[in-house]
Amino acid sequence: MRDILPPESALWNRVEQTAREVFGTFGFAEIRLPIFEDTELFARSVGQETDIVSKEMYTFVDRPLELPAKPTMGEIPGYIEAIGHLMHSGAIPKSQANVERLKFLTDEIKELYPLFEKSVERYADRLLVLSYAIEDFQLGPEISLRPEATASVVRAYTEHGMQTLPGNVKLYYMGPMFRRERPQKGRYRQFYQIGAEVLGSSDAPGIDAEVIEMLLAFFERLKLKGAVLHINSIGDKNCRPAYVERLHAELQKVREQLGADSQRRIETNPLRVLDSKLEHEQAIIEKLPRIADHLCAECRAHYDEVKRQLALRGIAYQENWRLVRGLDYYMRTTFEITAPGLGSQNAVCGGGRYDGLVELLGGPATTKGIGFAIGTDRLVLSLQESGVGEVSGGPARPAGGLDVYLAWFGAAAQTAAVGLARRLRDAGFVVELPAVEMKFGKSLGLADRLKARHAVILGEDELAAGVVAVKRLADGTQQKLAEQDLFSHLRAARDF
Ligand code: HAM
Repeated sequence: MRDILPPESALWNRVEQTAREVFGTFGFAEIRLPIFEDTELFARSVGQETDIVSKEMYTFVDRPLELPAKPTMGEIPGYIEAIGHLMHSGAIPKSQANVERLKFLTDEIKELYPLFEKSVERYADRLLVLSYAIEDFQLGPEISLRPEATASVVRAYTEHGMQTLPGNVKLYYMGPMFRRERPQKGRYRQFYQIGAEVLGSSDAPGIDAEVIEMLLAFFERLKLKGAVLHINSIGDKNCRPAYVERLHAELQKVREQLGADSQRRIETNPLRVLDSKLEHEQAIIEKLPRIADHLCAECRAHYDEVKRQLALRGIAYQENWRLVRGLDYYMRTTFEITAPGLGSQNAVCGGGRYDGLVELLGGPATTKGIGFAIGTDRLVLSLQESGVGEVSGGPARPAGGLDVYLAWFGAAAQTAAVGLARRLRDAGFVVELPAVEMKFGKSLGLADRLKARHAVILGEDELAAGVVAVKRLADGTQQKLAEQDLFSHLRAARDF
C-alpha cells in the first residue's frame, strides 16, 4: 500500500476526469460499489482455484455489533445466551457446526459454572476447552476486500433488476482493489482500477470492438504512447473443455520439464500454464496445442467478426494465443493492453467477455457481458515515464499552480484581504492567504517558495489609496492596481 501525494494526485485526477468524459461520450454512467462483499461472490465468479481467490484475498469473518470482542469469564454465560438469540434471528449463521457448538456450550455452562463456586482452578482444563469453543463460532458472514469489481457489477445488476432497462446497460467504476501479491514496481496490494462493463442481451462482436475503441480513445486523449492491444478468443463451454483436455494430456507428457507452479496448474487450471513467464518453459509452451485451432464454428465466427469490427475502426491489434487471463469467468474474447515503462508488470489493462457470469450469479440467463479494467497505478506510471504526466497546465489548471499569494500587513488590511481572497477564489484564481501576520520579508519569501505567480500586497498605505500592489515573482516587476484592474491583470498573466 502507498500514499499518493500532491502533485502526483493531480495527475490521478486528470486521468480519472478524462475517463469520465470519454466514457460518458460512449453512453457509460458511473456505478459506485462497496469495498467488501461476501467472499462467496468472488469465489463463484473469479473462481475458487484462481490465484486471486485461493491466496490473494483479504478475508475476514464479520460479527454482530451486539457481541463484545472477547467476553470475560463472568460474561461468558450472557455471551452464549446472546449468540443463541442472534442465531435464532439469523444474524449469526445457523450452520451445523454453530448449532452443535451452541448446544455443547450451553450444556457445559449449566454444569460448570455452579462448580466454579467451589474452585475455578480445579476446572481450569474445562474452562480452557470452553474458551476455545467460543472462539470457533462463526459469528457472521465471511467477507473479502474486493480483488476486482466485475463480480460486484454483476451482483448489483441482478440485485437491482437492471435487465429491465432499455438497451445495453453500460457502467463504469473507479476505486481501490486489494490483492495479496508480492509487491514490486507496478504491483501493489492496494491498487486502483478504472473499469467498464456492458451488460445486455446481445453478444454482438461490435460491442466487443466498441469497448476496445473506447479504451483506446481514452488512452489517446491522455497521450499515452506505445500502447499495444493483444487479443485472443478462448472459446466457450462447447469447445473449451475439449481443448483443455487436449492441453492437459500434452502437459502431462512434458510435466517433468516444467517448474513447480506450472506442474500444480496442470491439475488446477491447465490454461494458466500458458501465462508462464519462466524462461525455460517458453520453448515447451510454444509447442502446445493452440485454442485457435480448436474453436467451435460459433466461437470462430464471433472471433473473426470481432477482428473485422476492430479493423473497420482502424484499430491495430496483435493476436496472442496465450492470452488466457487469470479469472475463470471469461469466454470468447479476451484482451490486454501493454504499455512501455512498466518493467515486467506491463499490462495496463485487461478484459474480456463473460457471457455465463450473470446466470452463474443468479441473474437472467439471457444477459451477456463484456468489460475491462485499467490498472490506474500502472497507467499513471507509464504516463510519467513517457513524459506526458505533467501535472500543471490543461484548461482547468489544477491545484499546484498558485496564482496569488496575498500578503497583508495590519489588522485593517487583514479584513480587506479576507474579502479580496474570497472574491479572487470565486473568480477561479488559486489564492494563498497567510493566517497570521508575518514580517514583510518572510511573507514574500514564502510566496517565492510556494512558487506563486504573483504576490498581491495589501498594507495600510494601499488600503488608504484604494489599491493593491501586485508583484510578478518571475521578474520582480511591481505595480499598483485598483481591484477591478487586478482581476484582468491576473487573467491576462494566466493566459500565457
Ligand atoms: P485483471 O487483469 O485482474 O482483470 O486486472 C486488470 C488490471 O488491473 C491489470 O491489467 C493491471 O493493470 C491492474 N492490476 C491488477 N493487479 C494489480 C496489482 N496488484 N497492482 C497494480 N495493478 C494491478 C480484472 O480485474 C477484471 N475484473 C477486468 C474485467 C472487467 N474483465 C471484464 N470486465
